[in-house]
Amino acid sequence: MEYLRDVYNLLPPCRAPDTAPWFLAEPLAFSAKAAVSFLCAAAAAAASFNVQPATQYQDGHPSEVPYYGRSPAVYPSPIANGSTSSRWAVAYGHARAIVSQMTVDEKVNITHGWPGACVGNTGQVPRLGVPALCFADGPSGIRGQEFVSAFPAGIHVAATFDRHLMHRYGRALGDEYRGKGINVALGPVAGPLGRMARGGRNWEGLSNDPYLAGAGLGAITRGIQDAGVIATPKHWLLNEQEFRRRWSSMGDAISANVDDRALHELYVFPFMEALREGAAAIMCSYQRANHSYACQNSKLLNGILKTELGFEGFVVSDWDGQMSGVASVNAGLDLVMPNAGFWGASLAQAVRNGSVSQDRISDMATRVLAAWYFLHQQTDFPPPAIYPSTHKHAPVDVQAGHTLLIKEIGAAGTVLVKNVNNTLPLIKPRFLCVYGYDAPLKAGPWQNPDRYGGGYDVNFGWGTLNGTLVTGGGSGGSSPPYVVSPFQALQERVVSDRGVLRWDFYSVDPHAEYLNADACLVFINAYASEMFDRTSLADAFSDRLVANVAAKCQNTIVVVHSAGIRTVDAWIGHPNVTAVVFGGLPGQESGHSLTSVLYGDVSPSGRLPYTVARNEADYGDLLNSTVSADYFPEDAFAEGLFIDYRAFDRDRVAPRFEFGFGLSYTTFGYAGLSAALADSLPPVEFPDAGVPVVQGGHPDLWATVAVVACAVTNTGAERAGSEVAQLYVGVPGSDHEGEEGDTPARQLRGFVRVGPLAPGETRQAVFGLTRRDLSVWDVVAQQWRLRRGEYRLWVGASSRDLRLNGTLSILD
Ligand code: BGC
Repeated sequence: MEYLRDVYNLLPPCRAPDTAPWFLAEPLAFSAKAAVSFLCAAAAAAASFNVQPATQYQDGHPSEVPYYGRSPAVYPSPIANGSTSSRWAVAYGHARAIVSQMTVDEKVNITHGWPGACVGNTGQVPRLGVPALCFADGPSGIRGQEFVSAFPAGIHVAATFDRHLMHRYGRALGDEYRGKGINVALGPVAGPLGRMARGGRNWEGLSNDPYLAGAGLGAITRGIQDAGVIATPKHWLLNEQEFRRRWSSMGDAISANVDDRALHELYVFPFMEALREGAAAIMCSYQRANHSYACQNSKLLNGILKTELGFEGFVVSDWDGQMSGVASVNAGLDLVMPNAGFWGASLAQAVRNGSVSQDRISDMATRVLAAWYFLHQQTDFPPPAIYPSTHKHAPVDVQAGHTLLIKEIGAAGTVLVKNVNNTLPLIKPRFLCVYGYDAPLKAGPWQNPDRYGGGYDVNFGWGTLNGTLVTGGGSGGSSPPYVVSPFQALQERVVSDRGVLRWDFYSVDPHAEYLNADACLVFINAYASEMFDRTSLADAFSDRLVANVAAKCQNTIVVVHSAGIRTVDAWIGHPNVTAVVFGGLPGQESGHSLTSVLYGDVSPSGRLPYTVARNEADYGDLLNSTVSADYFPEDAFAEGLFIDYRAFDRDRVAPRFEFGFGLSYTTFGYAGLSAALADSLPPVEFPDAGVPVVQGGHPDLWATVAVVACAVTNTGAERAGSEVAQLYVGVPGSDHEGEEGDTPARQLRGFVRVGPLAPGETRQAVFGLTRRDLSVWDVVAQQWRLRRGEYRLWVGASSRDLRLNGTLSILD
């Protein structure tokens, strides 16, 4: 599989021809599309070869010497001691006691992967009662197993803007992992953050806003670990594109070259929350960061993760992501997967000859076991129950009652973006027409028994999935026990309403002249997968389908299931397109979640966790991943903090639908903004240097230093609904003065999903602001710094629908 992945990984994003109606001709269409992609790859490579490559050569070989030192060296690797909390201290006490009895070979054996039933398996030390630990994917459900649930994907959960649901999601996931005897869950995801609009894995993560992503990463991590399973927030760090994410015959992996401030304020930021919630493992990423591979980058591992953020757990490599032996040990990697990589016997030798210290190998083994003790897995942990589909065994059913939660999150993350004259909700419609390939199930989604929809080995290169899209492709895809398609759920409603349906899932121009129909529902999707960046944020077949239906049907409702941003300007303004729903990646209860919104059982409250532009070009340099044929490709993160809405705001580009946007079936009023500093705020810019760092960073960073509140009222007369109130903060000096000019005008720093509120009902939305939420990363002091002066505050229903504003003076 890895070989296949590497080959695909060479392909640059290149616009494929219009997707034909390949519904019945997938194999043929697949190979045609694959051929096009290969031609694109060749063309791009040829074009790039005309450009003088930046690579320098020594004796005819590409030399990496010029790139040395671009990422600061931070050595030695910190030895963890459990000082964060008494719980960590107890875990360390146990782990040290056992590691002190181990030989070097035994320590080495538990720091690398072995063959086994799970996606990853560590070695065991039977004489000391240390079992092999089982690692499994993925972030939205256990992949490749039976009797497990397919939850909504990360980006869908983020669209709920609801911390409570995020935590329940993590807990339910964790319960399933534990039930299957999986010690380590390979998720959640905040890397990629979603810097590139067409990034192939953005949907596995939460949002390209670091505050929203952090809230989700923290809540999900806490949920997973509440169930006694080790969470592995990933990928640390800067894995923002799939193209050349790994080394290949073309050369080294892409280098994400980022400045210290953007590194902290955007990319590290969400991981801080997960660490604070106790994340006991972190997965390092494939690509290079400032020219040093992430799994041997001492600045990222020894420096930021283990020193600044006091990480007590272990760093596991991404699969086959290790690029060196001694260098990766000393840079802070603790565990290599899925095999011994450059370690095993070579690591034992390196310890014996002094290249790796005894302290370091002991620290590696201790970190792994401390995580195990931290989650109390030494007692009563179920044995692994992981089997290939060809193995006969009694069912190990871990689904519990998760169907209801999946349906609830599916509905809560559904975003209504257009609704003319209250087209929605549908009120007891009797006659509906249903069009588009995304309404029914894919006819044969299990070509690969481990991957619903086929995953990257089948959907290679396609812009859409032929069948309803409930998850993306690759290791983050889920394995639904069943899928309720939109069409099935609509049929259930029509049956109980004694109505009529007409449908066509195939044609690009369906016969749509049913004059007695109440509405036409058109279902389209936009697929994405690990290993590929997307070639487009829209596809012409789907756009034509919508336009053709709208040309004939005056009440056309469009539902888009998409693994990330989907542009809609080809038809959004059509007068017959009366309602548009972004249905995200909702998991197994897709149809039920959707109909509960369409029929008004639930008023929509989902919000876009990204900006939908009018034109793809509006994303500028952040549309596509960097395509380079250079031996040492690099991607300058020159935009600093200005990704997504931060860039649209700065450049005054009007988005089609802004970050945080989403409609409701009712209306809300905002009133009475108050903002007050906490009495306890010490009048200093920096955290107290005398207080030691614990996991998650300096404790002062998490102190609530200010509280903002306002009243939210359901001003509608008919329907209950929830409102996502959002707090945006303007750091003083945002628009002028040297360094401050590099600060976005407004950044999300609070959100609350208020409700459901009955008509006329009012509730307070309260936002606590921590020291970190109001600080910037000071690159000179190497610390988070509160700015002195007046902070601007806005509370509203989206990043542009700002209803109240105020100020907060800090340290003035
Ligand atoms: C992915 C990881 C995943 C691992 C194990 C890698 O290719 O990047 O996210 O956890 O495979 O399947």
